[in-house]
Amino acid sequence: MSSPENSDTAALRSAAEEFLELFHAENPQAGPIEARIAAVMREIDLTGTYWHTADELVFGARVAWRNNARCIGRLYWHSLQVRDLRSVTAAGEVAAHCFDHLRIAHNGGKIRPMISVFAPETPTRPAPRIWNEQLIRYAGYAQPDGRILGDPRYRMFTSQLIQRGWRPPAFPGAFDILPLVVETVDEGPQLFELPRRSVHEVALEHPELAWFADLGLRWHAVPVISNNRLDIGGVSYPAAPFNGWYMGTEIGARNLGDEDRYAMVPEVAERMGLDTSNEATLWRDRALVELNRAVLHSFRVNGVSITDHHTESRRFLVHLEREERAGRRCPADWTWIVPPLSGSQTPVFHRYYDAEPQQPSFRTDHDGGLRGLHGGPPAFS
Ligand code: ARG
Repeated sequence: MSSPENSDTAALRSAAEEFLELFHAENPQAGPIEARIAAVMREIDLTGTYWHTADELVFGARVAWRNNARCIGRLYWHSLQVRDLRSVTAAGEVAAHCFDHLRIAHNGGKIRPMISVFAPETPTRPAPRIWNEQLIRYAGYAQPDGRILGDPRYRMFTSQLIQRGWRPPAFPGAFDILPLVVETVDEGPQLFELPRRSVHEVALEHPELAWFADLGLRWHAVPVISNNRLDIGGVSYPAAPFNGWYMGTEIGARNLGDEDRYAMVPEVAERMGLDTSNEATLWRDRALVELNRAVLHSFRVNGVSITDHHTESRRFLVHLEREERAGRRCPADWTWIVPPLSGSQTPVFHRYYDAEPQQPSFRTDHDGGLRGLHGGPPAFS
């Protein structure tokens, strides 16, 4: 007899089988696949889902990174450290483990790529959600004159959290750290202030331009993406924050450079004394380079891992070559892989890529993407 539940589990069964085939093909020491598939199918019969073994979880998370078409830093996919927190479901515990994640991943500056996997979705209980795009994000405040103090990307997120009771510092600044929002079906959205010891930041200075430090710019050391869904073999983990280390252009070219972010290029150009009356002087390009030098320099002198876009582009081509030699397809999105600075000076610019998505995967689902920017609507209401 075919019930709605049965047709739902058809997709789960085939995703599970496909994943287990991949896992056993790449992990010959894992034992016979037939017994494992049979056990998983029985478990799906009984519960409507199944529980990954610890080894399957580690492999699945690493391969989700390997498959992320937007990431240039995948050469080290195999080094991802996986924290198995699947038994953690309460909002306060999720938040506390996220704060531990930040400290452990920072590792005194020698950043470790790491993922914390919280409870999966099950037919009887939806998984927790983290609203923030990353564990550390800066508030953006609309000023009376219409300008934004802080990160304009989080203007709406910030005002929503204020409506939910968050009290910004008495003197709001350009780099105020937003609280973490964790939502569970029982508790609704809960706000948690980040403890100081979990937040590491680098104050930005320039190797030659002494005035640069006076701009008061800074950025956080560890980018932990926290609103992506990890999908492994048909099992879905919406709360699975993960991090690598920064490539300098993410901060210097995009976060601080983009016109709808901190938009620092005109001020840097002004202070450099460049002729900004005419685009053809390339004042934007010249200021952007110095902004990026400041980021790479400051992280380095503070002993925090960071990489430049030339080095990372070459590493990515090594990664592609290795994947090809292993007989695997490696999806890559040109528009994300090519760095936002001096693209044509990097080898990743001069070629096309396979775009076919692969599983396991990380992805931003529609609602999760919305919550990260708008601070709602809640997943369960
Ligand atoms: N681009 C994002 C940011 O500037 C971070 C994305 C992940 N980056 C990374 N290097 N793992 O915060």
